[in-house]
Amino acid sequence: MSVTAAAAARIRRARLSDVDALARFISAWTTDGTLLPRTRDDLVRHLGDFRVALDDGVIVGCGALQPVDAALAEIRTVAVEPACRGAGIGGRIVRALMRDARRAGIERVFCLTRRRSFFARLGFHEVPREVFPHKIWNDCLACPRLSSCDEVAMLRRLPHAARKRAVLGGEGPRRPMSLGHVSTA
Ligand SMILES: CC(C)(COP(=O)(O)OP(=O)(O)OC[C@H]1O[C@@H](n2cnc3c(N)ncnc32)[C@H](O)[C@@H]1OP(=O)(O)O)[C@@H](O)C(=O)NCCC(=O)NCCS
Repeated sequence: MSVTAAAAARIRRARLSDVDALARFISAWTTDGTLLPRTRDDLVRHLGDFRVALDDGVIVGCGALQPVDAALAEIRTVAVEPACRGAGIGGRIVRALMRDARRAGIERVFCLTRRRSFFARLGFHEVPREVFPHKIWNDCLACPRLSSCDEVAMLRRLPHAARKRAVLGGEGPRRPMSLGHVSTA
């Protein structure tokens, strides 16, 4: 696929009719731990979290926004077909997910990734993985790379939250993460 054709790929919310193709697309990236496995049932339950990129009706990319609590969500399961990479599809998927997050009133989004530069370009910065213990103790247990994980945690605060703080009188003291069980050790 040419860069121009890849750039024209359409990004939309996932539909029930996408589930089988989406499950196949994701499973191609799970054996080596690039993506965490997602069962078909899991995909059906969380379909509303997903955006897909389509070229001629074929899924060439996906990504999901999974809320953790009212203020925090994880960007996960982001992948683009190798032949379509480098044309901006991955960036467009993540930006679409961040727009979804802003609309939902979410203040911070995070991801666990090996693609530091990709997420840094999208405004994320590295934070200690231990800030997200729920992730490590739930989803990561299903990962074949659990004992030799080389992923970093990256966080981005969303602009509407920054504006709200400015209106209320500047940055002020840093609030702790809103998860009840967060450890910053
Ligand atoms: C990470 C991944 C989703 C990026 O997808 P992508 O479609 O290639 O993403 P983009 O094209 O937006 O950006 C990729 C690179 O291409 C460059 N790029 C962006 N738009 C471009 C364009 N229009 N033309 C040429 N290059 C472009 C960017 O500089 C970027 O480089 P960087 O990663 O060093 O910042 C893809 O590489 C992938 O599926 N990897 C395997 C799965 C994975 O690791 N997922 C992350 C798990 S959280």
